[in-house]
Amino acid sequence: MTRPKVTINELVARKSSGPKISVVTAYDATMATLFDRGGVDVLMVGDSLGMVVQGRENTLGVTLDHMVYHCRAVTRARPAAHVVCDLPFLSYQVSPEDALRSAGRLVQEGAAESVKLEGGRSVAASVAKIVAAGVPVMGHIGLTPQSVHRMGGFRVQGKTTEAASDLVADALALEDAGAYSLVIEGVPADVAQLITDQVRVPTIGIGAGPRTDGQVLVSYDLLGLYGAVSPKFVKRFRELGQEATQAISEYVAAVQGGEFPGAEHSFKMTQGEQLPQLKGSS
Ligand code: KIV
Repeated sequence: MTRPKVTINELVARKSSGPKISVVTAYDATMATLFDRGGVDVLMVGDSLGMVVQGRENTLGVTLDHMVYHCRAVTRARPAAHVVCDLPFLSYQVSPEDALRSAGRLVQEGAAESVKLEGGRSVAASVAKIVAAGVPVMGHIGLTPQSVHRMGGFRVQGKTTEAASDLVADALALEDAGAYSLVIEGVPADVAQLITDQVRVPTIGIGAGPRTDGQVLVSYDLLGLYGAVSPKFVKRFRELGQEATQAISEYVAAVQGGEFPGAEHSFKMTQGEQLPQLKGSS
């Protein structure tokens, strides 16, 4: 049975009605199909693909072209889940006009249904500009990976009273600018709850404790495909990486041992036809 398309109106209503919103990252059509069948509410084409797909150390090298490519792969799966796509580093920070042009590419070429960008008060004007053009925007505050060098690494944010107040101010600025939802990443659980209570739009936590309106995880983390160990906030629901390695080593052994391909994986000539007689053939 196909389920109805998840809209941003439904996501916003879920803040008061529940149940909590589930979000997972997806970067290609096959994974998008599998995750959509699992019933997830939102597929996030995150710039985390720079790390888990492209093998980079951080997300800074990901370009708008990369995001368009992966977003289109995900939307071709025609998921019922809402599809939000990340604006990558430097595609929105220069000016609100630039931000709108970049968001427009994700929508026009990638078929994104909403866009996400990192930052608080500093990007509020860009959020307002994109929203005014009819494109829904998800904010992202706290540990913002595109600012990894300013933060001095992937560090938990909002640990002091002053830093927590700054995060609340950022969240309110994004809400005022028209963001329909906010990702809160890498902040103490109490601070995430405080922000969640202060805004009318749903908050989606990652490394932000249990009291946000929803949760997001990087799919490669939750499936156990990325890295041997994961950060504290990740729950690896499966170890599919080990399964994949095991499957490949069985394949290698079967090829080397001549067990694969067998008759059941081979084709036959049309019945009654024979091989051409060639010099030297038996
Ligand atoms: O890039 C990403 O995948 C993200 C989520 C982890 C929130 O921004």
